[in-house]
Amino acid sequence: MSDRTLLLAGNWKMNHDHLEAISTVQKLAWALEDAKLDESQCEVVVIPPFTDIRSVQTLIQGDKLWLRYGAQDVSRHAPGAHTGEIAASFLSRLGCTYVVVGHSERRADNHETNDLVAAKIKAALAQEITPILCIGESLEQRQEKTHVDFTLNQLDESLAGFDAAALEGIVIAYEPVWAIGTGETATAADAAEMATAIRARLDEKYGSPLAASTRILYGGSVKTDNVAEILGSDDVDGALVGGASLSGPDFAALCKAAVAK
Ligand code: PGA
Repeated sequence: MSDRTLLLAGNWKMNHDHLEAISTVQKLAWALEDAKLDESQCEVVVIPPFTDIRSVQTLIQGDKLWLRYGAQDVSRHAPGAHTGEIAASFLSRLGCTYVVVGHSERRADNHETNDLVAAKIKAALAQEITPILCIGESLEQRQEKTHVDFTLNQLDESLAGFDAAALEGIVIAYEPVWAIGTGETATAADAAEMATAIRARLDEKYGSPLAASTRILYGGSVKTDNVAEILGSDDVDGALVGGASLSGPDFAALCKAAVAK
């Protein structure tokens, strides 16, 4: 067992308006309490759309809930003339602990490159927001067996220009694109293979303290009934969960199964 804290992060994607967000977080908090889970066992994070964050902040801070929250994206730019963008400093003011960067849906829908992802990581770190960097291969790359090289290259390029001190605390999410929202889950062995390869690469480039402390998540169709198996490897420190995080009680059940593994 590693001493890295188990992290379960629910990426709501473009689901739930701010009213639905309030009721989802309330139900999640109650269900976690019923399940007798607390921050000594795991860290639970919700990642709602931008328009929900203020409501989520008010609820979590007002009710002193132990949940953390974050955003799904961030601008590479400082505040200024960038229509439609959201600055890291705004997320910081809203109390965001985390921000997802480089999610495969943004890489596909918005043509995000590793260079842009690196710039977003820089913007987040400058505001002391922890990036959750998403990397992972397509089905074609897996079939060609180039998945490890491809994913490690995404890691290298997304972290280009940072040193170990800057990257302390960063979270890496291995999310094979073919497993996201498809019901196809990588096997526990697939998740373990990549998590181990990512940790080895961090060790090689940044040294063993960073490699040993960095949390590596798996994401892609994680559900209550497969989370324990996915977390079977010592190198997998948690999950980035999409669909199964949209219901408070369901996400709490998933967290419980993860803690019990
Ligand atoms: P999913 O999404 O759990 O719905 O497959 C995971 C993700 O995209 O983070």
